[in-house]
Amino acid sequence: MKMRTCLLAFLGLIVIGLSCVPVARAETTGESPATESPAESKKPAAFADRGAQTCIKCHDQSPVSDILKTPHVVKGDGRTPFGQDNHDCETCHGASPEHIHSHPASGEKKASTAVVFKGPNAASVEKRNEMCTNCHENGMRMNWRGSQHQSNDVACVDCHTVHVTKDPVLVKQKQPEKCFTCHAEQRAQSFMYSHHPVREGKVSCGDCHSVHGSPGPKLMKEFTVNQTCYNCHAEKRGPFMWEHQPVREDCISCHTPHGSTEARLMSERMNFMCSACHSGSTSANSGAAFGGHGALSGSQKNIAISSGLANQRTCLNCHSQVHGSNSANGAYFLR
Ligand code: HEC
Ligand code: HEC
Ligand code: HEC
Ligand code: HEC
Ligand code: HEC
Ligand code: HEC
Ligand code: HEC
Ligand code: HEC
Ligand code: HEC
Ligand code: HEC
Repeated sequence: MKMRTCLLAFLGLIVIGLSCVPVARAETTGESPATESPAESKKPAAFADRGAQTCIKCHDQSPVSDILKTPHVVKGDGRTPFGQDNHDCETCHGASPEHIHSHPASGEKKASTAVVFKGPNAASVEKRNEMCTNCHENGMRMNWRGSQHQSNDVACVDCHTVHVTKDPVLVKQKQPEKCFTCHAEQRAQSFMYSHHPVREGKVSCGDCHSVHGSPGPKLMKEFTVNQTCYNCHAEKRGPFMWEHQPVREDCISCHTPHGSTEARLMSERMNFMCSACHSGSTSANSGAAFGGHGALSGSQKNIAISSGLANQRTCLNCHSQVHGSNSANGAYFLR
């Protein structure tokens, strides 16, 4: 008896739901909607009447039910999917009467929800992202539109998981694995001899990158690469009495951020790296580059020039203050 009442009520809802369609169209085309009857104005009837209760009848198992323990499910908080309109699950999955009430013959598929986020039935990236940006288009996602991820059709849920007590991408130790599913090169670099301790869980990709979008290059967290580095390596910021020009311009002219076979994240073997800019034949410093070394005594001159390229640290043996010097006599970064 109870079942039949439900069924009748449900059919009634569908009828109201269908009759709402033209109204919705009118709204999207900007025409003023037709006057609504009191019954229609309550709420779009296609949504399940009892919100999450309807869904949980069938979906009461982990991981689906884990969402009930997350910040998305706070009944008293009108900003959450469970705090408004009683749409609950359907705030994200869309009104899904076909899904709730389809009873497929054995061997046949059940109709999907209006929006499926993962797997073979997933909705378009645009549709899925729209469900999230309905609520999340401010704060740190201000720059999402036009960002590298948005314009390459990456979905919010390619990184985020919502049916889990703690979203792994928000956990420092677990975040890189998410990123590595698409960024294999950075994964390989993270295993190199010298690397930022990202795999070790001490630094996260998000410490340097604003993955939702950035006004800076390469999704940098700050406006420039250098400002991003200064967040943790403040002692390199200076100002120094004697500045080494490439340090001020771009840390990446000598370092590589994700991993290197050379110590100290050097982009090349040390002395080759210095010589790339300071060589007698190839740079604007022509002649002047090693001219100063002429003033050294014989043996010192040899160190600098003949065995220099063979020894990783040779230039640094004398020029120890490559990032800049505050010594009165530091013009050559010797002290
Ligand atoms: C009568 C039981 C029942 C109810 C009620 C129900 N579901 Fe389902 N749902 C299922 C079954 C069974 C599947 C697996 C379908 C399949 O694999 O064929 C499923 C699958 C899904 C999927 C995955 C769909 C896909 O194509 O990958 C989502 C999302 C989902 N349900 C959400 C919901 C939401 C949200 C509600 C409430 C609005 C809900 N379900 C109500 C039984 C139900
Ligand atoms: C109805 C609005 C609404 C929708 C739709 C919504 N969210 Fe949220 N979301 C919230 C609110 C509110 C919070 C809690 C924010 C807070 O406490 O400051 C939240 C929190 C989060 C958090 C942080 C969770 C944590 O553990 O701190 C993530 C990540 C997130 N949402 C991602 C998503 C994704 C991805 C989607 C789309 C699948 C989505 N949200 C859809 C309102 C929404
Ligand atoms: C490339 C992976 C990636 C994509 C795509 C992505 N996020 Fe995030 N999201 C993150 C990471 C990582 C964090 C943690 C904060 C950080 O490190 O910047 C985060 C944090 C969040 C938070 C919680 C932090 C807060 O306080 O605001 C919300 C909410 C969120 N994302 C929503 C979204 C929405 C909505 C989309 C789609 C428009 C999206 N994200 C797309 C990786 C991603
Ligand atoms: C904040 C948006 C949001 C809310 C609210 C939400 N879901 Fe989901 N749902 C998702 C996303 C995103 C996925 C993809 C898997 C994931 O991220 O955990 C998903 C996946 C699912 C799946 C498929 C799981 C699988 O393993 O294939 C089911 C079933 C489901 N949701 C049911 C529900 C039910 C039931 C509720 C209400 C209790 C609900 N969802 C509330 C966003 C949401
Ligand atoms: C679903 C695949 C996918 C995931 C997951 C993903 N990315 Fe991306 N990412 C892309 C694509 C596609 C681009 C744009 C093409 C490119 O530059 O490789 C991109 C671009 C970037 C860029 C900018 C590259 C540039 O040249 O400007 C950075 C930085 C980045 N991702 C970092 C991350 C981080 C950090 C994470 C994890 C929190 C992550 N990505 C997760 C697919 C992904
Ligand atoms: C210590 C800061 C830092 C960390 C941590 C970091 N990155 Fe980067 N990333 C950079 C810098 C700086 C660049 C720009 C390099 C350039 O311009 O040559 C960059 C560039 C990128 C690019 C663009 C490709 C390229 O080489 O130009 C991708 C993709 C990327 N990072 C992904 C990641 C991922 C994924 C993680 C985490 C596993 C991560 N990054 C962690 C600083 C960092
Ligand atoms: C979130 C903090 C953080 C940011 C931002 C950061 N670093 Fe680091 N950096 C570290 C930590 C932590 C270490 C490891 C220190 C240790 O092992 O003692 C490190 C180590 C290094 C090392 C030495 C590596 C080695 O093998 O000894 C270099 C070089 C370096 N960072 C350069 C950079 C550059 C260039 C940037 C900007 C692109 C940058 N860092 C941004 C935290 C950061
Ligand atoms: C001209 C090349 C060059 C530039 C540009 C450069 N570095 Fe370095 N950096 C070096 C060399 C060489 C070492 C190794 C020093 C040693 O082993 O004593 C080093 C070592 C480091 C170290 C680890 C040892 C230490 O001194 O803490 C950090 C961190 C570092 N650099 C950060 C930075 C940051 C941040 C920037 C940009 C502001 C930057 N570097 C720009 C050449 C450079
Ligand atoms: C990306 C190019 C670049 C790299 C790599 C580089 N330098 Fe420089 N260096 C410069 C520039 C540009 C100046 C300023 C030259 C000028 O003022 O004439 C400079 C100045 C110097 C000076 C002071 C010279 C003077 O006349 O004031 C010394 C010493 C020096 N560099 C040593 C090194 C050492 C040692 C390394 C390797 C650790 C190195 N440089 C790597 C570009 C570079
Ligand atoms: C034995 C110590 C020593 C070593 C090793 C050394 N230098 Fe020098 N370098 C000096 C001294 C001292 C000066 C300053 C000479 C002067 O007062 O005119 C100098 C000057 C310079 C200058 C400025 C030249 C000018 O006239 O403007 C550059 C550039 C330079 N060195 C680069 C290098 C590079 C690159 C290496 C490694 C291949 C290196 N040095 C190895 C001691 C050394």
